[in-house]
Amino acid sequence: MIKSGITIQTTQEKFWDNDVEAYVFFMQEGLERTSDVSHIKKIESDFYPHVMSVLKRHNFTGKTGQSFMLTAADNRNTSGNKISEFIFIGLGDLKSKPNVVLEDLRRAMGSLVLKLKKHGIKSAVLRLPENPDSVYGVDRAELLKQAVIIANMADYDFSLSQKKLSKKRWDGTLLIETHEHDKKITDQALCTGNIIGTAVNNAREWSDTPANILTPTKLSQEAQTIANDHDLSCTIFGRDKAQELGMGAFLAVDAGSEQPGKFVILDYQPKVKPKATIVLVGKGVIFDSGGLSLKSYAGMAGMKYDMSGSATVIATMKIIAQLKPNIRVIGLTPLVENMPSGSATRQDDVITAMNGKTIEVKSTDAEGRLILADALCYAEKFYQPDIMIDIATLTGACQHALGFFNAGLMTQDDQLREVLFELGRATGDRVWPLPLGNDYKNANKSNIADVSNAGNPVYRAGSITAGSFLSEFVAKTRWAHIDAASAHDVPDINYLGQGKGSAGMGVRLLTEFVMGYENNLGK
Ligand code: BES
Ligand code: MN
Ligand code: ZN
Repeated sequence: MIKSGITIQTTQEKFWDNDVEAYVFFMQEGLERTSDVSHIKKIESDFYPHVMSVLKRHNFTGKTGQSFMLTAADNRNTSGNKISEFIFIGLGDLKSKPNVVLEDLRRAMGSLVLKLKKHGIKSAVLRLPENPDSVYGVDRAELLKQAVIIANMADYDFSLSQKKLSKKRWDGTLLIETHEHDKKITDQALCTGNIIGTAVNNAREWSDTPANILTPTKLSQEAQTIANDHDLSCTIFGRDKAQELGMGAFLAVDAGSEQPGKFVILDYQPKVKPKATIVLVGKGVIFDSGGLSLKSYAGMAGMKYDMSGSATVIATMKIIAQLKPNIRVIGLTPLVENMPSGSATRQDDVITAMNGKTIEVKSTDAEGRLILADALCYAEKFYQPDIMIDIATLTGACQHALGFFNAGLMTQDDQLREVLFELGRATGDRVWPLPLGNDYKNANKSNIADVSNAGNPVYRAGSITAGSFLSEFVAKTRWAHIDAASAHDVPDINYLGQGKGSAGMGVRLLTEFVMGYENNLGK
């Protein structure tokens, strides 16, 4: 497995005094409005007299994520054999799209890092756009943090082939120009960006790892390692304890697998009295075969990703442990493998969840909501949290409804919905609201139990009926459900793997939700 090879540093040297292979220029669409006029003048005087004409000749217009590279002998070097690269990256039209421009900057960073990797360029210096407040609505530190997160994410690769791995390995250094006078806050932003970016990549690595290697036991050990390294408390229990607690829904999904299920609890306690308690719950279906309601060949493809919610929660807890908010945060994740076998739960079985509700299992393929049901009951019973958020690759229907660029957000709490929606835009982990309510709850009626685990197809709305099912297991806590069925193979977004592999969906969002809690939701 490949580790992130990128090193990101800030530099207070004059731009051109940095000893690097490549100089990077972010250009606005239309080129003439570029903020780096003095830099372009310098290129023109020392390297390429007609650089703007060259860019135009090659159709470089500054569109979002566009990139173009020029190579020149560095005349400033007396020995005369140093080659420098000039990389131009499009920032897009900063005036026309006020709502997505920060995402444009993220993609520009993604495009840069992919370019450096592709050409094996070992070092580059860049200056982020000046006055980000007026353009992006964020301060310099936040802009730097975003750039650092994306540089890490764009550098991510996954392969279990030694050959492919050695080809992909790249140990580049990115220098980002910052001002001497705000070195303290920029160094902190750099550090935070690296913490977040690295953890997003951890989540992606777990998600990309196939289920024969990453068993429930293995992922629970990864959580334990993170707890040991970052001073979190970690509790892991299996079937026996689940039995004692009455987690019939968790056990029903676990029943068919030879790999024993694990229930993982990561607990972060601040040194001071916490301002609030937040529980994050992640769906950890290590592999979803559908169980006895077996999926088709095509339907089973990609089901190693069915623990992406779990990966997101564990990675977020790793970040929280390092950023140390004044909030108690508990990450809960049930880990199971949904398999058909002689011991598997059948269609028509009736099981009892931890809160005593009986569930008719109409489909063993609607397993995520079962393990989450017990996790939500567990959270409410033992922690009485102020807020619970669950994240899950819960329904194929969510991909159909929203595609890959937004996850489904379901909550009846208007303020939570608002905050999560806005943070989705700010972080790049976008979420879009879907409704919940009693009308939809009717879809989960059962003739012989309190509730059925699969929505009556007459009601359609598979994502909402799944969310409604979960709401049966939340008694009184403020709660939001994120259906991140689009957590992998996201097309087009360059820093998310260009259509292949895990996107680490939700790590950035949940992190900022916790870190911003006092500002956004505190009284
Ligand atoms: N893990 C799947 C949901 C899924 C499918 C996510 C495809 C991403 C891509 C979930 O456990 C599932 O199988 N859901 C069923 C629910 C149905 C049986 C009510 C679905 O979406 O078909
Ligand atoms: Mn399923
Ligand atoms: Zn599933």
